Amino acid sequence: MGSRSSFLIVANRLPVDRSIGPDGTATWRRSPGGLVTAIAPVMQSRDGAWLGWHGAPGEELEPFHDDGMNLIPIPLSEEEVQLYYEGFSNATLWPLYHDVVAPPVFSREMWETYKAVNLRFAEATAEAAAPGAVVWVQDYQLQLVPQMLRERRPDLRIGFFLHIPFPPVELFWRLPWRTELVKGLLGADLVGFQRPGGASNFIRLCRRLLGLPYKGNEIFHDDRVVTAQSFPISVDFGELDKLARDPQIVHRAKEIRFELGDPEHLLLGVDRLDYTKGIGTRLEAFGELLDERQVEPGEAVFVQIATPSRERVEEYRRLRDDIELQVGRINGMHSMIGHQPIQYLHQAYDRHELAALYLAADIMVVTPLRDGMNLVAKEYVSCHHDLRGALVLSEFAGAADELRQAYLVNPYDVEGVKRQILAAMRATPHEVARRMRAMRRRVSTYDVDRWAGEFLTALES
Ligand code: ADP
Ligand code: G6P
Repeated sequence: MGSRSSFLIVANRLPVDRSIGPDGTATWRRSPGGLVTAIAPVMQSRDGAWLGWHGAPGEELEPFHDDGMNLIPIPLSEEEVQLYYEGFSNATLWPLYHDVVAPPVFSREMWETYKAVNLRFAEATAEAAAPGAVVWVQDYQLQLVPQMLRERRPDLRIGFFLHIPFPPVELFWRLPWRTELVKGLLGADLVGFQRPGGASNFIRLCRRLLGLPYKGNEIFHDDRVVTAQSFPISVDFGELDKLARDPQIVHRAKEIRFELGDPEHLLLGVDRLDYTKGIGTRLEAFGELLDERQVEPGEAVFVQIATPSRERVEEYRRLRDDIELQVGRINGMHSMIGHQPIQYLHQAYDRHELAALYLAADIMVVTPLRDGMNLVAKEYVSCHHDLRGALVLSEFAGAADELRQAYLVNPYDVEGVKRQILAAMRATPHEVARRMRAMRRRVSTYDVDRWAGEFLTALES
């Protein structure tokens, strides 16, 4: 590559993930999660470079091209993966920012490694950026990068977007390194959040913690203005809509229903296997509907797809065991020869199969206990050009702000979840179409391109 870029994305992950098999052979696949889903189309339509970790510990790789993108790999040692990625990012910040649904770990060693890795990302970015370049730093793993980068390259325009919720002041306050983290973010010109509440939590925090003056969404710091604003992220509606209309996908959707025994109701869950996603809650609700015979065995099938995620982090290991036990119990009680009420698939699927599954499903059940946005909900809506399909959606997902016509639920209220699943099952086709049409209007208007466009316009202005 050699030359410097005038537009850079900096994220913990590259869009492709490298894993080394037991025999030493390397394979590439798409990286998991919503960040990559959203940023990849943004990068493909712009000229620039993406800096991130490629997923294999201890391996140093040269910059390369993939799918129309220039990728600059940042290496992480095995120890850094443990302390920075699995540790401070995913055992401290992730649970703390998601309403403490699991207890966060506070470790000085993890914090030190987080700082060191953020510095590596900042230095590599300073090296790769052309004079006056626009740099867009992504997510909770890299919150110190904006300030570290500004110290090295004050000529850059620096944006930051947090894909996960920004917690209320009272929760953030627990962090022993709260001041350093906030100062890290304040190195950006624009700090973006999923919801308006995230931006106002951040502004309040800057005032309480650092005594900074502010006006509206502008914070005054170090003779600069830092803007904190919400930009709800979205999906590539056009691409998904097109994919779901492809005759092969339509055919595959029918085939899936047939393979499942043509149930009257096909319910679907698609998530990373993460304790914030409320997978246990929705299975509990479905299990009780079967216990109470509100849903007859054979009448409905629940397909739950859960991609393996962060498997060495203790809470994720426990979650996997809990879900497998729960699925086993419900299936043990309610299966018949040739029919299992829950199909649990601990696997990642490609975009085509996922689109066919979305199209096949009558009811998409999305019940996170807390979620920045939840792109799965928007993907489901984007695929239902047939206006069939009901969405059961947690009020605790960012997507609930926009998808008001979903069957909204409080995931802590199992009775409420059961009621809304039943309402979705019993809705008339006319009612289902009315809701779906309104949700599709919203997602098609506010797609990922608009999200990125609005963020970058605000950053560059
Ligand atoms: P998160 O970013 O927390 O994982 P999102 O719902 O915002 O949650 O984004 C998840 C992304 O990962 C979506 O684009 C979804 O299609 C994809 N995904 C989730 N589960 C799977 C799976 N089992 N196979 C393939 N892709 C998946
Ligand atoms: C969420 C986070 C992303 C992360 C993704 C997958 O979407 O906001 O930053 O990349 O989950 O998680 P992983 O730990 O596999 O990168």
